[in-house]
Amino acid sequence: MNTRRTFFINTLTTATALAAAKSANIENRIGKKDWRGITREDLPTPSMIIDIDLFEKNLNTMSSHCKSSGVNLRGHVKIHKSVDIAKRQMAMGSIGVTVATEAEAELMSNSGVKGVLLTRQAAGKEKTTRMVALAKRDPTFLMVVDDPSMAVQLDMAAGAEHTKVNVVVDINAGLQRAGIEPGAKAFALVQKITGLKNLSFKGLMAYSGGASHTKGWEARKAKSMKDIAGMLETADMCKQSGIPIEIKTGGSTGTYNIDTGYLTELQAGSYMFMDTGYIKIGSKSGDEIYTDFSQSLTVLTTIIVRQHAGVATTDAGIKSMAKQTDTVKGRPDVAVDLQGAEYGILRWKAGENDYKLGDKAELYPTHLDSSTHVYDRYYIAKGDNIIDAWPIMGKAGAASR
Ligand SMILES: Cc1ncc(COP(=O)(O)O)c(C=O)c1O
Repeated sequence: MNTRRTFFINTLTTATALAAAKSANIENRIGKKDWRGITREDLPTPSMIIDIDLFEKNLNTMSSHCKSSGVNLRGHVKIHKSVDIAKRQMAMGSIGVTVATEAEAELMSNSGVKGVLLTRQAAGKEKTTRMVALAKRDPTFLMVVDDPSMAVQLDMAAGAEHTKVNVVVDINAGLQRAGIEPGAKAFALVQKITGLKNLSFKGLMAYSGGASHTKGWEARKAKSMKDIAGMLETADMCKQSGIPIEIKTGGSTGTYNIDTGYLTELQAGSYMFMDTGYIKIGSKSGDEIYTDFSQSLTVLTTIIVRQHAGVATTDAGIKSMAKQTDTVKGRPDVAVDLQGAEYGILRWKAGENDYKLGDKAELYPTHLDSSTHVYDRYYIAKGDNIIDAWPIMGKAGAASR
């Protein structure tokens, strides 16, 4: 065989063998945090990728806003379910985190994150017992209550454990899902709580989920002001009766620069990643696109079949994103479809920037919470290089979601 050809074949074989060894060893290398030479190309797909530069820019924007406007940040972790991210937020001055579930509260607190606020009422013996145990271990933990009977149960459970629980009263802010009616009813609940010796009343919460995605900044402002007015009125009633309100909490990524003057702390969460839903709500500047934060999170997928013109099959099906997306990073011309649990479809105008077998495509999630929920880790990318992996809290290992 001619020597040039032999050399070429040998080189190719060695390169292929190296690539195979690299991907076979990826789990091994993740364990050792050995990221040398690893790029998107080497990752198993579908997988979740954070663009670290955009992510850090988002964190900086929110943190600078909070510092300059004098509002605290207790950002919501249900979007990311990651201790690595929570710790980064804390390092940038957050006073704690907000969580939706008991398991998230335990994960964060047990990992050393202080100032965890559970924003969903922990009703029922199992949840109450777990949260009282957490309060006993972590005196900085806080939880919401929106019902007098819940306050009584919590007080009894805390008394039985010889501990005190920090309580925030959840006030209805336009959503029917949770929160006591503002005004007289809410005030009566506050008074009840202040009379219970195992509860420590800290303040009020009003989360307006309806305002967060209202299109157009002025309309969003009007909606948010309307929704949190009852909480502010209740806070005044407390103040006039000499009941101190340490905390007025609420807000979201969509209202972070609206609620700031009214709340003492913000619960925004999505700003760090953004999703296709948030991108369309419009900026304060009047821009139709919400440009305050950038989309830093994608689902990396591989083209696994190319049989038809202008159509590619990917490995990202229903199981890769609990809510379907329609947006491919860098390819606004491509439509996204699903073909089954493990198959996705991309369609574009044949002959224009055709995908090839084995190519990668990155999808922007439509809804963050239900997408991050599917994966067990984020791969962290700087440019094309993978520089780290952060675990996402999964169902396995947690007592419950
Ligand atoms: C109670 C509560 N607070 C805060 C947030 C965070 O809002 P966003 O992710 O829109 O910033 C959510 C999100 O759904 C929430 O349910």
